[in-house]
Amino acid sequence: MKLLIDDANIEEIRRLMDLYPISGGSTNPSILAKYGSDPWTLLKQIRTLYGTERDFHVQTIATDAQGIIADGHRIVQELGENTLIKIPCMPEGFKAMKALSKEGYRVTGTAVYTPLQAYLAFESGAEYVAPYVDRIDNMGYDGVQVVKTIQDIIDSNAYDAKIMAASFKNSQQVLELCAYGIDSATCGPAIIDNFTASAAIKAAVDKFTNDFEKAVGQGKTMANL
Ligand code: G3P
Repeated sequence: MKLLIDDANIEEIRRLMDLYPISGGSTNPSILAKYGSDPWTLLKQIRTLYGTERDFHVQTIATDAQGIIADGHRIVQELGENTLIKIPCMPEGFKAMKALSKEGYRVTGTAVYTPLQAYLAFESGAEYVAPYVDRIDNMGYDGVQVVKTIQDIIDSNAYDAKIMAASFKNSQQVLELCAYGIDSATCGPAIIDNFTASAAIKAAVDKFTNDFEKAVGQGKTMANL
């Protein structure tokens, strides 16, 4: 499962990319809104960090098909190749997906709460769908199960499409989807850091270091022995 960053904080993206195997990123209008009133400058800085070889999913704002298509054209024009146009899975969104995918653009259906939204996105030419795992959980349904059902729809219909699961609030949600073979998960910085935040991991590493230093000297490593 590929790991993407669902955030627009430049310092955090730089830090996470330095540490972890990051395959790309995503944003949404609410994430961008947290960082001021100049989203194009921010998106271009983020694109520079990812490089054009990584996928970057960027959302449209308009709510009518014509406006969504215009937003999509501008997003790819500004941010270059391997930018996926993230379009909400609503009726006007499907109309825009059909047009943009026919033009050869890469499309991600987003704001997915139900498997049938994903089905319509696949039939409309979307390459990815982004189901909102934790938001579904908070509605009293099972977000992980919704994602698994969407994966089953892909497999049983042989759609040439993938899932980028989104909206995570804990590691267990990510783990279950990783074990199921979902293509991608896009996670905020805190969720990614939490994959290895266990006190047991730190205690184990501290003990290794202390044992070694006791035997060979403070600050000694394999490189400076
Ligand atoms: O980008 C869409 C999705 O990740 C939203 O997540 O945390 O706002 O539920 P969240």
